[in-house]
Amino acid sequence: MNGSELTKLPRHLAIIMDGNGRWAEQRMLKRIVGHQRGVETVRMVVEQASALGIGYLTLFAFSSENWSRPKVEVRALMSLLRKYIRMELVRMMKNNIRFNVIGNRADLPAEVNRILDDALGQTSQNTGMVLTLALSYGGRQEIVRAAAKIAQDLKAGNLGSDEITETLFNQYLDTSDLPDPDLLIRTSGEMRISNFLLWQLAYTELYFTDINWPDLTINSLHAALADYQARERRFGKTSAQISQRS
Ligand code: IPE
Ligand code: IPE
Ligand code: MG
Repeated sequence: MNGSELTKLPRHLAIIMDGNGRWAEQRMLKRIVGHQRGVETVRMVVEQASALGIGYLTLFAFSSENWSRPKVEVRALMSLLRKYIRMELVRMMKNNIRFNVIGNRADLPAEVNRILDDALGQTSQNTGMVLTLALSYGGRQEIVRAAAKIAQDLKAGNLGSDEITETLFNQYLDTSDLPDPDLLIRTSGEMRISNFLLWQLAYTELYFTDINWPDLTINSLHAALADYQARERRFGKTSAQISQRS
């Protein structure tokens, strides 16, 4: 990408990394091999996004619904996650990346949580790209958790019902520190949201590609960003209003 193209980059890029299992199955390999190859794509995308100057990168790594997969696959994914965080920590420090996690961490194994806390602590003062992993994450569950917290604050008298606005609701979500995503990429040809960032995606541009996650290349990532740059984001206004910037 050249200099002028860098000006219209998404501030927040969110990705549903899908197709690891199919990538492996098509090659008569075990699904976990697809997940292992997927980690290499994660590395490439994190490095690219950070180098391009994208402010926030959010990756859907494990959904609330993924707990229903066969135990052996869940275990393998948790073990891969531990290895990935341990190995990436050095690179995150080198690239000034601030690590972040969203989702229901209470459901994650204690060992995973320990490693996550370590990475969160070590990178907390970094000032570069914010890398958020969505782990044991579901958009509906997040909204319900937020509503329950609001109810508690109402009951405790810390909050009045007239104070409940979109801005306030946003503060109760796991993503309270993140801007809404500008662009969502989903790989593997599935055209659905699968319970990812339901509230936050209200006005996000969506980009779907048939490429399976382990096969995603720098060029295919750039193609998604170029497609985004050609979009007109109207937020309910008319095209004329947008071109007048009114
Ligand atoms: C995405 O790949 C990774 C996770 C959901 C953990 P999948 O494992 O969903 O791959 P497919 O969709 O079965 O090909
Ligand atoms: C969404 O992918 C979750 C992640 C990428 C982590 P899935 O493969 O679980 O989604 P569905 O079940 O096909 O919608
Ligand atoms: Mg899938």
